[in-house]
Amino acid sequence: SNAKPWGGRFTAATHRAVEAFTASIDVDRRLLEVDIRASQAHARMLGACGVLPPEEARTLVEGLAEVRRRLEEGTFRLDPALEDVHMNVEHLLGRVVGPVAGKLHTGRSRNDQVATDMHLYMKEALDRLEAAVRELQQALVEKAEAHLDVIMPGYTHLQRAQPVLFSHHLLAYFWMLERDAGRLADARRRADWCPLGAAALAGTGFPLDREQVARELGFGRIYPNSIDAVSDRDYLLEFLAAASILMMHLSRLCEELVLWSSEEFGFIELDDAYCTGSSIMPQKKNPDVAELIRGKTGRVYGALVGLLTVLKGLPLSYNRDLQEDKAGVFAALDTVEAALPLCAGMIRTMRVRADRMAAALERDFSAATDLADHLVERGVPFREAHRIVGELVLHCIRAGRRLQDLTLDDLRAHSPLFGPEAPGRLSPRAVVEARKLYGGTARQAVERQLAEARAILAAA
Ligand code: ARG
Repeated sequence: SNAKPWGGRFTAATHRAVEAFTASIDVDRRLLEVDIRASQAHARMLGACGVLPPEEARTLVEGLAEVRRRLEEGTFRLDPALEDVHMNVEHLLGRVVGPVAGKLHTGRSRNDQVATDMHLYMKEALDRLEAAVRELQQALVEKAEAHLDVIMPGYTHLQRAQPVLFSHHLLAYFWMLERDAGRLADARRRADWCPLGAAALAGTGFPLDREQVARELGFGRIYPNSIDAVSDRDYLLEFLAAASILMMHLSRLCEELVLWSSEEFGFIELDDAYCTGSSIMPQKKNPDVAELIRGKTGRVYGALVGLLTVLKGLPLSYNRDLQEDKAGVFAALDTVEAALPLCAGMIRTMRVRADRMAAALERDFSAATDLADHLVERGVPFREAHRIVGELVLHCIRAGRRLQDLTLDDLRAHSPLFGPEAPGRLSPRAVVEARKLYGGTARQAVERQLAEARAILAAA
């Protein structure tokens, strides 16, 4: 026979390789706390519904409290031969309260139990993540507010395009993160369904009160279909999709920090606390944290594709494949939870080198659009204005001149259509200040954007 909790219909012991292969305790041990909590709610409900005598239910609830105490004091020794977190908890409960522990699993399966644990765990994780996203948004807002005077080159195709406020550029990330917060909140809404009571797949004949357990555990609603309840991993996919998009944003931010902190750009200097050195080159200060966040983004995408792949061919309802949901979800969660505060720290502590950005803007043609706009204001069709200024730029490149050095006479020598305000349009400040429309880069527009961002953080 077989000593496992399910050993009755077996005659032989489990192969050791099978024990090792099927065990999930190394991964699901972090569910211990929610597993105990969910079991206490289940036991209390069994008592309230009269499925168990009240004193037995109380013994189970109190025994589980003792299990939690041992977990907290570090004397709960997990046994891989017991497969997973659920059977380890039940086993220790048996040592604490005796044979009555065997009644805890009445009307319940590990299939609805593990789903309930994961829902509980993810709700709390998603709350922590949203708070961490808010922290990074706060760091961006504060940095943007502190550097409202700084103008930087704005890029498309990584070619100089038009000057923008550095604050405007930073706040672009605020809005990406705002959408991330929305996606995480949305995933949390789906994690808020309680599967308990679905049992193995079909529900149970015991008169359980699913609403009571759900209420006690803080769930917003219960799954209406027991088969769906034990099979559904959508909320994990939604978390992974939201986490992937969030990491993509962090990766883009980090890519810019890497670029900007290079000697070639020199727009920022990262704080020593967020950099590391070289074992051979004494002069080096490398942006390894930013690089690793960029690099670890791949793992999070991998977890999403991994779980989608696990699920795609599964027949209903529970299949052991579903146990594979946890490793990727937890790895993704840990990665995102580590990356968010590190990004906030890098943003808060980085030195902004306005002088280097200003110097970069000295030698470019990023006022060209505004010169064309000037002609348009004087009645020239935009396409014609575009051509005139394009030729002017080509002339300057050939003559080794800068746009902002051109006098009105120089401009008029090229086209008589230029008016007296034209040279005044050429400074980076003038280009920035021209864009006062909502969402634009002029200081007043960015201040308005900052006010909206601050209001969002105050309400969050
Ligand atoms: N450790 C399992 C999991 O994570 C628990 C459910 C096991 N159920 C079963 N029928 N073997 O999915």
